Amino acid sequence: MKSILVAYASKSGTAKEAAGKIAAVLPNAELIDLADVSSTARAAKTPLHENYCAAIIGGGVRVGLVHGETKRFIDARKEELETLPSAYFITNCFPESVDEIIGKMLPASLKDSALFVGTLGGRLDINSLRGLDKVIAKMVSKAVGEQKPVFSELDEHAIQTLVSKFL
Ligand SMILES: Cc1cc2nc3c(=O)[nH]c(=O)nc-3n(C[C@H](O)[C@H](O)[C@H](O)COP(=O)(O)O)c2cc1C
Repeated sequence: MKSILVAYASKSGTAKEAAGKIAAVLPNAELIDLADVSSTARAAKTPLHENYCAAIIGGGVRVGLVHGETKRFIDARKEELETLPSAYFITNCFPESVDEIIGKMLPASLKDSALFVGTLGGRLDINSLRGLDKVIAKMVSKAVGEQKPVFSELDEHAIQTLVSKFL
């Protein structure tokens, strides 16, 4: 029996947590960390259709861009993903930037054919960050209007909506 691929890349754990929640409720899901070289290599070995009946791909956002490994995977597997039932998610904090981030993440053909495309919410605790991440997070926060991040948690409703497309 083929699995549902749930693949993510995450810097501070939110996309990982969302992908884990998705995989936990879908029958026969295979969870893959795209930033983990060994599991990405395993997924890359065979055509997606040989192992998977559907694909859910996501990643955390930094400075207006989805995680590089998520983008790389989507670009490398574009043709295969076009013919699989698929969904794409980000985890981020600023709702007003979602459309722009997704526009850069997904070719129009994948966006149009996807069963779900959107944000699953996110978390940004600036005080827990260190070094460059802290500086950049403050700058990004300021650039979007010195307002508090609107997403401060994962959006369970959005996760349910995504999952429902595959049940
Ligand atoms: C350095 C930094 C830059 C960020 N840039 C953005 C951004 O441009 N837009 C946005 O919506 N969220 C931004 N965020 C918030 C993250 O997307 C949010 O923390 C998300 O939950 C991260 O997902 P992850 O935990 O899977 O890495 C940023 C966070 C950090 C730490």
